[in-house]
Amino acid sequence: MIAATDSYGCAGLDNKLPWHFPEDLKYFQAMTMGCPVIMGHNTFKSLQSYGMSNGFKGRKNIVITSDPVLWTKYLQPELDVIYVSGIDAAKTAAKVYSLRNSNCDIWVVGGKSIYEAFIYDKDVTEFHWSVVGNGKGFVGDTFIDFTPIADRLGLTGTAHLSDDVYVNLYRKEE
Ligand SMILES: NC(=O)c1ccc[n+]([C@@H]2O[C@H](COP(=O)([O-])OP(=O)(O)OC[C@H]3O[C@@H](n4cnc5c(N)ncnc54)[C@H](OP(=O)(O)O)[C@@H]3O)[C@@H](O)[C@H]2O)c1
Repeated sequence: MIAATDSYGCAGLDNKLPWHFPEDLKYFQAMTMGCPVIMGHNTFKSLQSYGMSNGFKGRKNIVITSDPVLWTKYLQPELDVIYVSGIDAAKTAAKVYSLRNSNCDIWVVGGKSIYEAFIYDKDVTEFHWSVVGNGKGFVGDTFIDFTPIADRLGLTGTAHLSDDVYVNLYRKEE
């Protein structure tokens, strides 16, 4: 799982990120490239405002929605964007893609409803948490408490990307 918040848990505003830190986007890109990314429909729709209406390039976009029209319209498994009916269907689709692509990592990339569905999921063994803003609080309408997954997995390292962004890595030790 991979996410960014400010120091107070703010994660979104008007279905977008409330900040722009290119170093964090580059980190996200480097981690997720070539992999399946699981996201909620709102997050997928929010990508339009970043010029990514076809999803994240170079990744298999697995979008969770309750809209059956989308499930059937985009059934072809070879598409870069597929729509699935829920958490279990997303996990199955991502696992199939991973098995066919050198067991690549599977990433959960938001938004709030999807993070909250995975926070207690034992299949999530790694969490990259970017903390942005160097203590500044951003205006937002979406706040997420990631401490349960951080506590469960345990902190294994921190990468300082800039004065404004650091990434805490939580990983379950075998
Ligand atoms: N800071 C970060 O790292 C980060 C990352 C990503 C997103 N975000 C932010 O998170 C916010 C969006 O979060 P959100 O909770 O509103 O949206 P979301 O989780 O991206 O998507 C919610 C939608 O996903 C579908 N969905 C979710 N659970 C489902 C289930 N169990 N079964 C079927 N469909 C399901 C529904 O779509 P339908 O309505 O189509 O059924 C639901 O309306 C935005 O502000 C965004 O910018 C932040």
